Amino acid sequence: MDWGLKNRLSRIIKSDGKTVMLAVDHGYFLGPTTGLEDAGKTVKPLLSYADALMPTRGIVRTSVDPATDTPIVLRVSGGNSVLEEDLSNEGLTVSMEDAIRLNAAAVAISIYVGSPNQKETLLNLTRLIDKGHRYGIPVLAVTAVGKNMGRDTRYLALSCRIAAELGAHFVKTYYCDGFEKVVKTCPVPLVMAGGKKLPELEALELTYNAIKRGAAGVDMGRNIFQSDAPVAMIQAVRAIVHDNATPQRAYDIYNSIKAASKRGKKSKLKGVTASKQELSKH
Ligand code: R5P
Repeated sequence: MDWGLKNRLSRIIKSDGKTVMLAVDHGYFLGPTTGLEDAGKTVKPLLSYADALMPTRGIVRTSVDPATDTPIVLRVSGGNSVLEEDLSNEGLTVSMEDAIRLNAAAVAISIYVGSPNQKETLLNLTRLIDKGHRYGIPVLAVTAVGKNMGRDTRYLALSCRIAAELGAHFVKTYYCDGFEKVVKTCPVPLVMAGGKKLPELEALELTYNAIKRGAAGVDMGRNIFQSDAPVAMIQAVRAIVHDNATPQRAYDIYNSIKAASKRGKKSKLKGVTASKQELSKH
């Protein structure tokens, strides 16, 4: 691996070998996803807690503070939409030059192994990796599961291994029973996608299980930004990924940050009411 590529990857996967990536790219095929209707408002309070942010280029340009230190893992595949039965018809949506213009630390592409567009999505991955090597930009392969595709160990291990064999620098996949086999047979770091919104404790248990079974971290979206308290939730996830917290300890962290922020909001409101009363005296 070239120095520039290693350097970019080390901004995403920290020195403990772990990362908490915040995925906010859902709109590229889902449109205005719950929690991301105003992506800028959602991202702003979470950005400093994320080791990396995974958006589309439209969201970067419209909704992310350019002064941020948080590295961007740019989604560069798309062309599909949730209205189609088969989601696998994806192409490359961003040139490497534009990714560099946006100072992306890495680029991300979905692959659809076993789908009608398997070959095209895998060749898009290899084209992207070749360009990534030219400029020192790492490539994240996302093993998309589509609407009709399985999520078992055999399928996910196959997809992750193919992505790594074709040269992906890191891989994102779903949790499954036998996840340790998926991790062991994938020679590059593997991050877990969160999936659909779960109750907070369950999402923390999922995170814990993935880390225990060898994941290099998470690339989590809905279980953070659709939480009742997203800022508390991302810190709870961090406690598991970086500090080996148990799910229960992380859940306690979540609840205490959530309660403190509610108290903070109440006292701010009280402050406003008090100053309004002061003003009305004059
Ligand atoms: C989906 O293809 C996107 O890449 C999302 O970033 C991914 O699904 C992770 O988000 P979530 O944790 O909401 O599943």
